[in-house]
Amino acid sequence: MVPSLKVPASIVIFGASGDLTRRKLIPALYNLFTGNYLPPLFRIFCVDFLQTAPNAFKATLLSGITEFSRNGKPDPAQWAKFAERIDYIQGDFLQRDTFLRLKEAIVAFEKSNKKRGARLYYYAVAPRFIETISEALYKDKLANVDNADRIVIEKPFGTDLASAQALNKFLRKRFAEKQLYRIDHYLGKETVQNIMAFRFANYVFEPLWNKTFIDHVEISVSEKVSVGSRGGYYDSAGALRDMVQNHLMQLLCIVAMECPPKYEAETIRNAKTRVIKDIRKMTPTQISKQVVRGQYKGYRLEQHVSSSSNTETYFAVRLFIDNPRWKNVPFILRTGKSMEKQSTVIAIQFKDSPNKIFKDDIEPNRLIISIQPELEISLLFESKVPGLQMKLKPVEMDFTYNESYSGDPIPEAYEALLLDVLKGDATLFMRADQVEAAWKAVMPILDYWKQQKGKGLHIYLPGSDGPKAAQQLLKPNAKDWTSLPTPAIQPAPTIKVAVEPAK
Ligand code: BG6
Repeated sequence: MVPSLKVPASIVIFGASGDLTRRKLIPALYNLFTGNYLPPLFRIFCVDFLQTAPNAFKATLLSGITEFSRNGKPDPAQWAKFAERIDYIQGDFLQRDTFLRLKEAIVAFEKSNKKRGARLYYYAVAPRFIETISEALYKDKLANVDNADRIVIEKPFGTDLASAQALNKFLRKRFAEKQLYRIDHYLGKETVQNIMAFRFANYVFEPLWNKTFIDHVEISVSEKVSVGSRGGYYDSAGALRDMVQNHLMQLLCIVAMECPPKYEAETIRNAKTRVIKDIRKMTPTQISKQVVRGQYKGYRLEQHVSSSSNTETYFAVRLFIDNPRWKNVPFILRTGKSMEKQSTVIAIQFKDSPNKIFKDDIEPNRLIISIQPELEISLLFESKVPGLQMKLKPVEMDFTYNESYSGDPIPEAYEALLLDVLKGDATLFMRADQVEAAWKAVMPILDYWKQQKGKGLHIYLPGSDGPKAAQQLLKPNAKDWTSLPTPAIQPAPTIKVAVEPAK
């Protein structure tokens, strides 16, 4: 909790009239405020180019909370208290004057509270402004106290290894690494954070979590949404840059990492980086067989998308992690837009039982961690069907958040992440070397595609399960992608786990 933070906290949002601020940042800050998580002395400085009256600006923030907050429409009295802490500073990021006025406002707030406070700068801006804003903060000494001033940088962090390295170098010349919070909102998701608890607090799974018992791991992030109005950005990014280099890679790290010596930012980030560095490098021939890129039909007609675009809206890969724990265990990752289902799942498929004493076919155990939309962990196992015969059937043992923590609201990823920045806890943020390692891991694929141009791009129907070619990547380990509930286990009875009610 940061209410213990006695110094004034200035929260600055650059790009305050953008979608991210309205949909995510302000609703998250508002929920932190109503939950008493924000420090007593805080002010939010919203900076943007847009000419707007402060009240009109605040009205758009209010409608954003109403529309997007997990708690819906704000209580008018609470909103009024929150809104009086918000200032709008109109200005161009390219003009020094904008930053001088911002500094003046921050200093006045700090002086009125008689203390140099903590300052959080959130870059909710297009990547081209990162350097400009950083330079201005640096030159005019707005973020010059290592222990108190923090900068949050949204993805995309670079567009390839070279640009990410250059950006890291640029930032590190002006700020200390501990001031830099490279955000990946997947790490703030409750279910993603729970994977660490699940793996390392439950000793029963640890002896099984390796190549001896696990046949393969599947990480699937399937999105129903198309690129919508984001064509301008997306067409130059594609699924690999937009989702894989960051979000999927982070999920992979959490599933595959070694247990860190303690729950602390640096050791956790070391363990994750190790995983990325151990990903087996693929040759062009291997890439042609182990990677599938697809594009949904009609993508080229989307707004701001080139009519001859070869950008992938679907990506799937079969990769390996060359370390003693995972040697030769396939990790099959995929993500796509305009897919049939909205579902993010991690499936751990255990090996077949060597005990062949039953007549029935036995389905090997499978652990499914559903990140969204259901927040659920289920274990598939064989059970005897009640009756006079020895007949087996797979059943599911389920842990669902709704049942176990009924009534307890689940914080949004941005709430968890903003609170961590205020606390100065970088555990759930990307360190420079992690970002670079992730780029390094995907570069051979990007280079290969560049050389292939549009060759090998699979067109799939919107609303489908992606290109058929991707099924090949599952072989010989699986027939189909996992989703919840899987047709194979749907009709089976469910055994509920009794969970202690949350205190
Ligand atoms: C963003 C990507 O980082 O994550 C989007 O830019 C994607 O393209 C989004 O839709 C998915 O996030 P979530 O939280 O909805 O799974």
